[in-house]
Amino acid sequence: MAENFVLKGNICYSQDAQTLKIAEQGYAVCMDGRSAGVYRELPEMYAALPLTDYGDRLIVPGLVDLHLHAPQYSFRGLGMDLELLEWLNTRTFPEEAKYKDNEYAKKAYSIFADNMKRSATTRACIFATLHRDATEILMDLMEETGLKTMVGKVNMDRNSPDFLVEEGPEASAEETIRWLEDIEGRYKNTMPILTPRFIPTCSDELMERLKEIQARYDLPMQSHLSENRGEISWVQELCPWSEFYGDAYDHFGLFGNGVRTIMAHCVWPSHEEVSRMRDNGVFVAHCPQSNTNLSSGIAPVRTYLDQGIRVGLGTDVAGGVGESIFRAMADAVQVSKLRWRLVDESLKPLTVEEAFYLGTVGGGAFFGKVGSFEEGYEFDAVVLNDQSLKHPQPLGVKERLERFIYLSDERHIDAKYVSGSNVF
Ligand code: GUN
Ligand code: FE
Repeated sequence: MAENFVLKGNICYSQDAQTLKIAEQGYAVCMDGRSAGVYRELPEMYAALPLTDYGDRLIVPGLVDLHLHAPQYSFRGLGMDLELLEWLNTRTFPEEAKYKDNEYAKKAYSIFADNMKRSATTRACIFATLHRDATEILMDLMEETGLKTMVGKVNMDRNSPDFLVEEGPEASAEETIRWLEDIEGRYKNTMPILTPRFIPTCSDELMERLKEIQARYDLPMQSHLSENRGEISWVQELCPWSEFYGDAYDHFGLFGNGVRTIMAHCVWPSHEEVSRMRDNGVFVAHCPQSNTNLSSGIAPVRTYLDQGIRVGLGTDVAGGVGESIFRAMADAVQVSKLRWRLVDESLKPLTVEEAFYLGTVGGGAFFGKVGSFEEGYEFDAVVLNDQSLKHPQPLGVKERLERFIYLSDERHIDAKYVSGSNVF
């Protein structure tokens, strides 16, 4: 049950992409799981609420990971020597095949769920594998964490190895429906999301069936888009009728336009693809570390922001090595500087404020009013302890947050709230 309470500390959140709001020794009020505002002086009407004083610590909105692969957590930090398609065949598919074994899935997903719980992330959109049982095990474990997540059983029925492929469009669709029927009403915080892996592994017939399922169950949808140049050429060969990669999803009615859609990566979009993403209201999950590790490239995030496209951050574990969205913020700033210097000096790099916005409100918007302490937002909060990140001089709150983004890890997270419920 969400409670009514007040948190006291150094409160930071984004007012907009450029502006960080800071209330030093301020009060964040939670009523019925939603923010009732941030105050420098606690209004009389809230004076009787229970108050937790976090002293000199920082309090920020919970972070949002718009894209990661739970089964890949087990090989994070390994095998970063390949590009996407080879990496999938050599590293990823053999690991994902292990989740056919429920015991393995329990063991591996428990580690994943525990670490997600301890992280600064309060919301995430997660890929499982094609295995129905293992996907349900993952959903059970995520529900226990108290985080609010969307989890997808992966669909893949072509161009996949024998040991990790569904028998055909009908078999894949049937398993998806069984999964949805199995979990119906089972969770409060864990929701299903339709997850065709990407166009190369999903036949046209499967995409048609998935659209029917999407409409029948009113599901959101997540997939990958324009991550790697070889992948893009391959999609052109597989779908010669498509105008561009995103058009192949749009052709099947699975590219925004009434369907809540996340596309991960979007590193190499054409002008037409950018326009379609904007017109259809597709969310981009920007995954800077993965794009570096897999030598994919640097996504044009400044262009997305200028065009009013909705962008959040993703770790893309195990393209990315860990679950920290603070790290994703720092990576987003860093790769944007390389893009500015090496690719296009007319497009300014991201600021820290913008990266913080992307990791909170930017991705949070996929979940509704999430990612801010503005009044009416769901009360997701994390309490940050930077005491061990010693500094010889006193620093301002904004400087402390900036350092935290670059220097922190999960050991520096002291408390977490999701929709007003205390996770730890
Ligand atoms: N494209 C299709 N599958 C994957 C995956 O597992 N990871 C990444 N980064 N890209 C993909
Ligand atoms: Fe991915």
